[in-house]
Amino acid sequence: MSPLDTAYRAHWIKLIKRLETSFFYYDLDWLTEHLKYLDSHKDPDIKFWYACKANPLSAILKIFRNLNFGVDIASLGELEQALSVGLKSTEILATGPCKSKKYLQSLLKNEVEVVVLESLNQALWLNEVSREMNQKSKVLLRVQLTFDGGHSVLGGNSITPFGVTPDEWQTLNFKELNNLEVIGLHAFQWGNILDLEQLKNIWWKTTTECLELADKMNFKLQVLDLGGGLGVPYESHQKALDFEAVTALLAELKTKFKLPAIWMELGRYAVAECGYYLSQIADRKQTRGLDLLVLEGGINHIARPALTNQAFPAHPLRVTDKPFSTSTTRFQVHGPLCTALDKLGQFDLPSDLDVGDWIVFSKAGAYGFTEAMPFFLCHPLPAEVIQFKGDVVTPRTPKTSTDWLV
Ligand SMILES: Cc1ncc(COP(=O)(O)O)c(C=O)c1O
Repeated sequence: MSPLDTAYRAHWIKLIKRLETSFFYYDLDWLTEHLKYLDSHKDPDIKFWYACKANPLSAILKIFRNLNFGVDIASLGELEQALSVGLKSTEILATGPCKSKKYLQSLLKNEVEVVVLESLNQALWLNEVSREMNQKSKVLLRVQLTFDGGHSVLGGNSITPFGVTPDEWQTLNFKELNNLEVIGLHAFQWGNILDLEQLKNIWWKTTTECLELADKMNFKLQVLDLGGGLGVPYESHQKALDFEAVTALLAELKTKFKLPAIWMELGRYAVAECGYYLSQIADRKQTRGLDLLVLEGGINHIARPALTNQAFPAHPLRVTDKPFSTSTTRFQVHGPLCTALDKLGQFDLPSDLDVGDWIVFSKAGAYGFTEAMPFFLCHPLPAEVIQFKGDVVTPRTPKTSTDWLV
């Protein structure tokens, strides 16, 4: 069903009149039901964490906290946000390529349970700070594997700063790093995958190579962390993953390779579909035969289309009761920035769509507000609104450049 046919419309019209600017809208009732479904359909030896880089809004983190999901953090800011909503330190996992010695100290001071090491330096520094704090720290080693080619937001086969190769890990003598307890390995290089067969190929190869590495390094693989990567169908021709088939695949993986536990940190698959981004049409024109729309907000609010060259699904919204025309036109939709990169996609939308109408982008709950480039050109920042248990509240009101320019 189109979001415009649902009860959201009435809330959105009120919000448009009140906020008078672009905003994100998250349906936390939907999110709650979705997470309960994921939790109840998975094998008990598979643990899902929430990769909060996808959306660190406190109201969203609280939903994960209340449903006993752990949270994966990748910066001091994310750690502080996770702690501020009352997440227990035992429910925090620290990934990320940038961990200074000082940051590692903060992780230990805050009693973060497991740290994913992504470089040899991280291993040496964590061992040092663990010794200084007289403790043994549980770690996973992040491994960067070679694939047959291809690229993804997480690198695919490209060289990235995420982890190091199996050979590199073997140059460290972990027997000497006796303030670390290696409990497993982490490998995640492919994002937004919708094809079960592709997931199977990636996971089978990853597991085979991780078991080989654990064997060579002489430790027992208690945990294999496969990261995220479960995709969302942003394009109309794409088909959603069948979650029960995904969990069956994970269970098969666990049994075949006799893995005690599999972990994943879900980002996109957990939160993308609870969110919408709404922005008003500021201008309409034709250029060399193509119909263009310019919106009040673009990649300053939602950068993913420019980063991945993939659009969010777009739906028209009109504040008045005047119906849209039934004929459609192909529009190229741009944001307000003075760069050709500020393009949100090409869509077939009602031909009479015009200045003052709005466009709603769905599946915008992941990699939205915090992934954008909000300050360029000093346009207003979008608001963030949540719908939860019958209430519609605005934890983030809109901000204008006077709030941050100095
Ligand atoms: C270490 C790690 N785990 C999990 C995720 C979440 O990935 P996804 O949104 O594909 O679920 C990310 C995303 O960048 C990540 O870096």
